[in-house]
Amino acid sequence: MHHELIVFLIVALISVCAFAAEKFEPNYDESKIPPYTLPDPLTLADGKQVTDAETWQKVRRPQILELFKEHVYGRAPGRPDTMRFVVVEEDRHALGDTAIRKQVTIYFTDDDAGPHLDVLIYLPNDAKGPVPVFNTLNFHGNQSIIDDPAVRISRHAAKYERGERVRRWPVPMILSKGYGLVTTHYGDIFPDRADGRADSVQVLFDKPAADEPDAWGSIATWAWGLSRVLDYLETDKDIDAGRVIVMGHSRLGKTALWAGANDQRFAITISNDSGCGGAALSRRAIGETVARINTVFPHWFCTNFKKYNNNENALPVDQHELIALCAPRPVYVASAEGDTWADPRGEFLSAKFATPVYKLFDLEGLPAEHMPDVDKPVAGTIGYHIRTGKHDVTDFDWNAYLDFADKHLRASK
Ligand code: GCU
Repeated sequence: MHHELIVFLIVALISVCAFAAEKFEPNYDESKIPPYTLPDPLTLADGKQVTDAETWQKVRRPQILELFKEHVYGRAPGRPDTMRFVVVEEDRHALGDTAIRKQVTIYFTDDDAGPHLDVLIYLPNDAKGPVPVFNTLNFHGNQSIIDDPAVRISRHAAKYERGERVRRWPVPMILSKGYGLVTTHYGDIFPDRADGRADSVQVLFDKPAADEPDAWGSIATWAWGLSRVLDYLETDKDIDAGRVIVMGHSRLGKTALWAGANDQRFAITISNDSGCGGAALSRRAIGETVARINTVFPHWFCTNFKKYNNNENALPVDQHELIALCAPRPVYVASAEGDTWADPRGEFLSAKFATPVYKLFDLEGLPAEHMPDVDKPVAGTIGYHIRTGKHDVTDFDWNAYLDFADKHLRASK
């Protein structure tokens, strides 16, 4: 083919793609939501109803978990036998003698040069015993969450300044309430790019092969990383591994939900503004949609999830069932009024429609029929709030999470 013609065709193709991406006009009109029926978490394949907690745990929960693996997030491997933990640094008088700081590296093989996770931990240093902690991932590197010169710079986030995200990470407030904070840069697990796999922990495993339609996407990989951090926390005598709260914001809120749904060792799961593929119901297709998220972030979910682009009603699950997978453990879902892209109402409805599963355990689930007023958290075994402001993590959010954790874990200093 003539050289100019090839160039012309390439330019034409790029323009068509750019046009297609631009063309997405999110719907924000409730009256334009297509009609839908949500799958019922309590109806078995043969039409029978689940009426007791034991059948839920033994039969129905595994079925729904399997559907999410196959159709949404993808399958992840287990814990590698060769995993090892190295405490690289420890200071029991950090932050003006208010905290214990630890920096731990998690290696998966005996090769230090292979994929590894650098974990940063702050604990109150006046606790009487092992403390409950928030296990989190961060976007801009461990050094971004606090201005502490002893914190090692996360290797995939070196461009970010120390303390630049301090606003989202109120470490003194968390410590003063008797909780610790554990955080890892998400890029240590899977760099957040369509071609991030080659630099991710996935290279450690032959299976699942990347081209399998239900192989783990990056969200499942980040969630797997949170479980590996929990494996370390179980070995740390300063930490109560029975009271680990998994928490995340936005794409990392989707990740926290998937981590909490999968790994029943997490005592509480918290989703901050997680939206599409997180707490928001996919079938509402309001704000961000399945097609849009799969197009802009093709590496987040498994390949099978793309079958549901503009085809949400065919999904064998919806996101209220993701919350239900956490039952009977407490879950908190938070929205922001200005975060319409994440569909606050869809996030609320997921929490509400997970409630019948909690009732099997004689737990109240979400104690609200209708969306609560702005800035008025409601909390049963499921908690929810919608706060004023935009897509973000604020002190208001953290206060609500600390109250919710106190309610369920009765942390004492
Ligand atoms: C984008 C994306 C959301 C995601 C958010 C984030 O807005 O569309 O799905 O939650 O990024 O992670 O910040």
